[in-house]
Amino acid sequence: MKHESVLVKEIMTIIQPRKDCIYVDMTLGASGHTKKLLELSSPTGIVIAFDKDREAIKNSEKIKEQYENRLILINDDYANLEEHLGKLGIDFVDGIIFDLGVSLDQLKSDRGFSFNTDAPLDMRMNQSKPLTAEKIVNHWDMEEIEKILRLYGEERFAKRIAKAIVKQRPIKSTKELAELVEQAVPRNVSLKIHPATRTFQALRIVVNDELESLQIGLEAAIKYLKVGGTVCVISFHSLEDRIVKQIFKDYKREGELRLINKKPIRPSNDEVKSNRRSRSAKLRCALKIKSEEKND
Ligand SMILES: C[S@@+](CC[C@H](N)C(=O)[O-])C[C@H]1O[C@@H](n2cnc3c(N)ncnc32)[C@H](O)[C@@H]1O
Repeated sequence: MKHESVLVKEIMTIIQPRKDCIYVDMTLGASGHTKKLLELSSPTGIVIAFDKDREAIKNSEKIKEQYENRLILINDDYANLEEHLGKLGIDFVDGIIFDLGVSLDQLKSDRGFSFNTDAPLDMRMNQSKPLTAEKIVNHWDMEEIEKILRLYGEERFAKRIAKAIVKQRPIKSTKELAELVEQAVPRNVSLKIHPATRTFQALRIVVNDELESLQIGLEAAIKYLKVGGTVCVISFHSLEDRIVKQIFKDYKREGELRLINKKPIRPSNDEVKSNRRSRSAKLRCALKIKSEEKND
């Protein structure tokens, strides 16, 4: 099974990629949105695509030629947008996409992102960073583990799970962790999701510093967007969506952005049917209407 890109038609209708323009895909992944941007901005549009996962970048190297070398790949955190645009000598871009979270390639890998695949507890998108999920579960204090489960997993059984983790460590694999969480959660509680979903979400957010990157990256994106350009963000859980909603609201108040959709756009029933991962996707888009003077 291949990664299926989410809300592609909806995003392209809003961004309307054109020739001679520059677009940024902040989250290349399996390159679905990037390819569509390249096709629709043919023959002269440029796409700059970020991914902090080396594998994702490597997998897309081969499509560069197919698109007349109009694709620039950057293996870094999108929070560093400003630095890279500076190096490329680019002052403004015409459209920016964020498709947050993990790709199917990552979920299926042996890097510990999913409790459906038994693997070592790693969860790093950027494998050169030192912090892994294994370090958190086996070396952090119980209170710290409880705190991140509550904060980044919105896990109501954070205390029970943290206690069980500390009691049963060392924990080495995703399977061990998922089973332990399942046993720690009270049996009479009916959950719509796997009991370990929130624990895995919390660990992944902390390992990859996801919310901090989003905050920095989205503000940088708005700064580098041309007046008349659009920024689109697909989020997959409420913590991400809350950050996007708040930043858009702040910039709207400053008169820099106009919201294209007040309520988030959701995938159609047909899309959810053919791609289950899309069911929790929420798309927020905004148009830049005024440029704040850049400090530099
Ligand atoms: C959901 S996938 C993107 C899928 C892509 N839009 C597609 O159509 O194939 C998210 C990707 O973003 C990358 N990513 C997440 N946070 C990032 C960050 N802060 N900086 C750079 N890449 C990031 C992940 O490594 C992953 O490959």
